[in-house]
Amino acid sequence: MNTRQPDPPRPGACLTRRSFLLHSGAAVTGTVLLCNIPGFEGISLAAELASYPRKRLGRLSELKDGEPVWFNYPDNSQNSGSMLVKLGVPAGGGIGPDQDVVAFNLLCPHMGGVLHGAYKAADQVIGPCPFHQSCFDLTRHGMIITGHATESLPQVLLESEGDDIHATGLIGLIYGHSDNLRP
Ligand code: FES
Repeated sequence: MNTRQPDPPRPGACLTRRSFLLHSGAAVTGTVLLCNIPGFEGISLAAELASYPRKRLGRLSELKDGEPVWFNYPDNSQNSGSMLVKLGVPAGGGIGPDQDVVAFNLLCPHMGGVLHGAYKAADQVIGPCPFHQSCFDLTRHGMIITGHATESLPQVLLESEGDDIHATGLIGLIYGHSDNLRP
């Protein structure tokens, strides 16, 4: 009589690494990455990104370390004022050869203080906010460092196409908006 118990199934035995990669694809990988970004936890948000406009912002070769360029995104309203900057150090969401080019909306997520002119190139931060002193780390997706804000600064998603820089979406809500695309 054979008393040997069958080996328990190995976890994931019916799914090889190859088939997992083939069937999960870049969409899943992208979603996982996006879901790891603070304030960006839902798959539905990944789908929402598809509705953002694609806007050319300038050229990588024309940016200088620590010298911001101003633009509006996703529309031309006052609340859409944003800053594109080459930080000179790698940053979350950064593009370019050194992954150091990032962009952020300039309304403080706490109560809408305007952060225009508050960028500190030496520290890669923006702040303090003129209202309640919040500061945000531009190397870490605009994460709050100090002050009253409880959310990260909305980050403009960037893509490079050759030397061209394009804005393609936003992570986080612009202050005062329930939908960045419908102010
Ligand atoms: S509005 Fe910026 S910290 Fe309150």
